[in-house]
Amino acid sequence: MINLQVFQQKNKSGQKISMITCYDYLSACILDKSDIDAVLVGDSLAMVMHGHETTIPATVDMMTLHVAAVNRGIKSKPLIADMPFLAHRKGQTLTMETVDRFCKSGAQAVKIEGAGDALTDIEYIIRSGVPVMGHLGMTPQSVHQLGGHRLQGKGQKTATQLIENAKMLEQAGVFSIVLEMVPSSLGKKVTEAISVPTIGIGAGVETSGQILVWHDLLGMNPSFKPKFLRTYLDAHYKILEALNGYCDDVKNKNFPSKQESY
Ligand code: KIV
Repeated sequence: MINLQVFQQKNKSGQKISMITCYDYLSACILDKSDIDAVLVGDSLAMVMHGHETTIPATVDMMTLHVAAVNRGIKSKPLIADMPFLAHRKGQTLTMETVDRFCKSGAQAVKIEGAGDALTDIEYIIRSGVPVMGHLGMTPQSVHQLGGHRLQGKGQKTATQLIENAKMLEQAGVFSIVLEMVPSSLGKKVTEAISVPTIGIGAGVETSGQILVWHDLLGMNPSFKPKFLRTYLDAHYKILEALNGYCDDVKNKNFPSKQESY
């Protein structure tokens, strides 16, 4: 049985928590063999899998399909599903139907952006037995309100508010909080202010762990180069090279060979 205790255990012993997003079955099979601690089926799939400019077009149906696909490949790690744009703003019944669908598709927990009004829903979901992960800082579903994918919590007032929101999320019972695109000093302050682990993306080295988007980490999109990103593979160019290698072999009648023919 997979559980989320890795978050508490690693946090308690001062070990960093590593997370990555994942959206499809075969990637999940590879990820399952890795040392990474936990998996998020993020609504970033609207961008990296479906080609949208923001995460806003992600729907519950879309998310459910991807959660189920990832779950077929993940056997040994906690799987968290992102509540997509406005999915928890249409009344409790619809919120709980979405949570129900995600859990029945294999998620052990859901992630919800923001605090404020969302706290009531978060508390209700947790009281219903489903762990919730928070998400503060640059919350991509509010991209139009925030004026773009940009650093948050730069000023004293917004930084103080963010720390307060983190405390309220902890009070509501979240098991962890994603901190996205905030100054590293604020990442450190939030991490010190709460006892649940913080998972940073563009939030400096002092958070309890880190998360990156699968396609970003692997270098699938060379034109996406935010300051916080480190790529661990040149997948875009490696794949292009492979495709052109295949194309050349077809053109030059080097593929298929005798051994590859019936
Ligand atoms: O949707 C997503 O991939 C996320 C991570 C970047 C934290 O929310």
